[in-house]
Amino acid sequence: MTSKKIAIIPGDGIGIDVTREAVKVLQCLSDLKEINVTWREFDYGAEKYLASGITLPDEEIENFRTNYDAIFVGAVGDPRVPDMTHARDILLGMRFKLDLYINYRPVRLMDERLCPLKNKKVEDVQFTVFRENTEGLYAGTGGILKKGTPDEVAIQTSINTRKGVERIIRAAFEYARERRRRLVTLGDKANAMPHAGALWRRAFAAVGSEFPEIERNAVYADALALDLVLHPAKYDVIVAPNLFGDILSDLAAALVGGLGLAPSASLHPGRAALFEPVHGSAPDLAGTGRANPLAAILTAALLLEHLGAGGAARGVERAVAGALARGATTPDLGGTLSCAEVGDVIAAELADCMQQAGAVGGDGIQREA
Ligand code: NAD
Ligand code: IPM
Ligand code: MN
Repeated sequence: MTSKKIAIIPGDGIGIDVTREAVKVLQCLSDLKEINVTWREFDYGAEKYLASGITLPDEEIENFRTNYDAIFVGAVGDPRVPDMTHARDILLGMRFKLDLYINYRPVRLMDERLCPLKNKKVEDVQFTVFRENTEGLYAGTGGILKKGTPDEVAIQTSINTRKGVERIIRAAFEYARERRRRLVTLGDKANAMPHAGALWRRAFAAVGSEFPEIERNAVYADALALDLVLHPAKYDVIVAPNLFGDILSDLAAALVGGLGLAPSASLHPGRAALFEPVHGSAPDLAGTGRANPLAAILTAALLLEHLGAGGAARGVERAVAGALARGATTPDLGGTLSCAEVGDVIAAELADCMQQAGAVGGDGIQREA
């Protein structure tokens, strides 16, 4: 297998802090000759936008599409850009222009002490959110009339195409089939939004009927939010329109220890994919050393898995589980370590677990010469 190339955009705020630690982990794997990956950093973010007006040029997206296997983003968003212009261009720009229609957000409780709910075991919180990533209320259609007057009108329409809805639902069912999961749940608001809701429900029934071995259930997204807190063990795979998937995935992150532990990938099978932790730039924590890098590190594991380096990805996950078990964490998880110290712990632990597991060289990616 040839060498893989990653474009890395640390971005803003804690995006910069946590990306440094994810890169530390990649460097460690590369030093261990576990992966044959090269990367280049790009300085897109608030600083560049404020200095030059540049957000993310189309030519760069084209460069990522043709010359890179994956893109990693730390986080974007800065209080100096309150309307989020640059962050939308960068993040939504890549999701939309690369047509990355699957926002894959695995929710895995790694240690029962991290769950804020009473008496939950690790196996009680193990589900995956498939969030539609190119349509819905994020499509950007609409406008403002009579701006700044008492008669101002803001229109933000939700786009739901049969093709777009079918392909994310199909991705959720295919994943369920591959992983032998028994249930796919649709989270929508077909009661309040009958046009979009009816399309989603028809597509859900039609695609679902091609997977007779998998149960399906359509639930209103508000009731689903409630039930995820009360009975998370009922859920396997959740598919949802863009906005509901966004909200449900933050709620889901809370069930497994918070945003500091939630990874995410934006995918279109066969294309360069985008990897980003679920969390944002947390300006309150930026530069303080208090950001938890584990979401970014687990996101790097998703990236490695995507590139075919499953052994290395498993190693990263084992190293994270080990650090959590020993309480070697940042303050959000009750620990006393800094962001950089957690990165060091993972790198050290990784060297141990890769050797113990005998996984060296077993990840499908050719070792560096
Ligand atoms: P946020 O995710 O940045 O923070 C929400 C809360 O979680 C804060 O209390 C924060 O301190 C905490 N938190 C987040 N990540 C953490 C981590 N790794 N370790 C410890 N604590 C963590 O969400 P927000 O405050 O709503 O948004 C801040 C900015 O980030 C905004 O500009 C927003 O638009 C942007 N944002 C960007 C992305 C992205 O780039 N993928 C995602 C979400 C939000
Ligand atoms: C996420 C974020 C983004 C979204 C924002 C920053 C536009 O919340 O990745 O979950 O809503 O998709
Ligand atoms: Mn979000």
